[in-house]
Amino acid sequence: MAAPTGIKSPTRARIAARTLRTDRWWLYPSFTALVLLAFVVYATYRAFVGEHYFAEPYLTPFYSPCVTTECVDGSRHLGTWVGDWWPFSPAVLILVIPLSLRLTCYYYRKAYYRSFWMSPPACAVGEPHRRYSGETQFPLILQNIHRYALYVALAYNVLLTYDAVMAFKSPEGEWGHMGLGTLILVVNAVLLGLYSLSCHSCRHIIGGRLRNFSKHPVRYRLWGGVSVLNGRHAQLAWASLVWVGFTDFYIWMVASGTWSDPRFF
Ligand code: FES
Repeated sequence: MAAPTGIKSPTRARIAARTLRTDRWWLYPSFTALVLLAFVVYATYRAFVGEHYFAEPYLTPFYSPCVTTECVDGSRHLGTWVGDWWPFSPAVLILVIPLSLRLTCYYYRKAYYRSFWMSPPACAVGEPHRRYSGETQFPLILQNIHRYALYVALAYNVLLTYDAVMAFKSPEGEWGHMGLGTLILVVNAVLLGLYSLSCHSCRHIIGGRLRNFSKHPVRYRLWGGVSVLNGRHAQLAWASLVWVGFTDFYIWMVASGTWSDPRFF
């Protein structure tokens, strides 16, 4: 049998207790697991249900861009790319984009490694696994696609901004409309944009691999701005996650006729 690795490795100190911490270290991983699980259950249900995702002019971000023949009238802002052969709801086609960014995000890795994998569950708390291979083997080696997931997500943010702009067009087709849904979609686009720009890969793309900043003043300024956002990456990750769920829920309620959308203009 192969020698154990990680905290069971023969080179590590032998401590019988799993942890010597006396504070409530389990609160953070438990709460994280609860919120992430709730979001996954909700998003999975909404992605497969295939209805109440468009309340003109509001298209939920879960179904944007809506590009299959199944999309309801008015929701295909970018036309039809996928025919009847697609067996699932239009959201299943799209959600792979934000999912690949969130799943490989450095912050979420920390969050779900601790809360679901318990590898380790917290600082100075031993993990339950005998072996540790980090991100060097399949499937975790796929975390290396993060930079490419960011490129796609940045393009995706442009689409969500387009949806927010379209929310200023009334169901009658006139510009200048503003309802509560418009504001919700605008905040959603802003939060998701800030979340992507605060990404560690984004910071490296802008300011990395430079010998000195003095020869690259523009990149230096951009790097400074992105670094400020980067310091708030965890907060932006949570705020954008909760808000995108709320945005979908609001549009679901309006589309199903449960709530009416207050209109300001
Ligand atoms: Fe979180 Fe890149 S590190 S999105």
